[in-house]
Amino acid sequence: MRYAAITGWGMSVPERVLTNADLEKMVDTSDEWILSRTGIRERRMVGPDDSTTSLSVAAATQALERSGITASDLDLIVVATCTPDQFLVSEACLVQAELGGTAAAFDLGAACAGFVYALSTATQFIQAGLYDRVLVIGADTLTRFVDYSDRSTCILFGDGAGAVVLEATNEPRGTLSTVLGAHGEGYKHLYIPGWGAFVPESAGIFPEYRPFLQMNGREVFRFAVTAMGDAAVEAVERAGLEFGDIDMLIPHQANLRIIDAAARRLDLSMDKVWVNLDKYGNTSAASIPIALFEAEQAGKIKDGDNLVFVAFGGGLAWAASVIRWGGVPKHSDQPHVSETPVDEAVATAIGAERSS
Ligand code: UT7
Repeated sequence: MRYAAITGWGMSVPERVLTNADLEKMVDTSDEWILSRTGIRERRMVGPDDSTTSLSVAAATQALERSGITASDLDLIVVATCTPDQFLVSEACLVQAELGGTAAAFDLGAACAGFVYALSTATQFIQAGLYDRVLVIGADTLTRFVDYSDRSTCILFGDGAGAVVLEATNEPRGTLSTVLGAHGEGYKHLYIPGWGAFVPESAGIFPEYRPFLQMNGREVFRFAVTAMGDAAVEAVERAGLEFGDIDMLIPHQANLRIIDAAARRLDLSMDKVWVNLDKYGNTSAASIPIALFEAEQAGKIKDGDNLVFVAFGGGLAWAASVIRWGGVPKHSDQPHVSETPVDEAVATAIGAERSS
């Protein structure tokens, strides 16, 4: 059996910090309201020279260094984003232009659930035997689409990127189970109208037209509490594990109350939940790989730990995976896949057929 172990990880956020105190000067809000309703204290915001590409490249460079491989060793680059710098070409190709190599490259759109969707997609390529080394990036710069006169959305979002390198192994590491889903009919609860090829006439088409993110916070909240909990529980069950086997929950960082509800569904105390949304707000597809990076840096994840990644977002989409951490030695020239009994059986059968 082939698995896709996480052998490298990296993150990047812009330098510019937007605090709750800054927002108090912009809209009718307060640090107390934001902190108590969301858990966010500050978020990072792209400056004029930052982009989804620059953040992605910085995170990917770290992930590649940690894994000990280079961009030319990669077979595939998948970027999960809903804020690519361009629609033609893909964000993945823009990243590759900076990193080098000739890997296959494409984007994947599942908003804040995008990283777990992309991790699952990349894992399938490795498990199918098609690829051995894949770079998965979650990156978004949603502050470029936030209306800073709308207090119900401008307090939530920040920018960033996180990346992981996946490598083939026959150790049971990496993704052990995945649950993906979406309720498309709810898309208007969280979307950016006019951000795409179709712009309704009613929106008006001006060269300077910049659409804003629109959200029905209460509906998204209601959806998230159920979807995150259900998906996390199902992922643990599909992995054949008990709640007590879970060492760390690494959830999408949108709202502390939503994270708390998911943790309770898994019967986990908060010391087994990685929370960093106080520093970064909701970084969309980047939030889980950024949280993973920081949890590992803090020494909270060790070899063989079972992690749960769970996310929800625009779509309305949800995704959860159980990940077994580590287990793969530092990079050698060959992917870490030994001969399997299946390969031997096939070789024997071919040999028998030829000699008959
Ligand atoms: O990746 C997915 C991204 N989206 C999300 O994660 C959103 C999920 N939803 C949420 O996190 C929460 O619904 C919010 C944080 C957005 C809002 O919290 P809430 O507890 O659901 O508040 P609410 O929308 O029910 O609003 C309660 C009150 C309202 O005032 P009234 O009508 O009761 O007088 C709002 O106008 O709070 C008001 N309000 C604010 N007050 C101060 C809304 N935003 C603010 C604000 N500061 N920033």
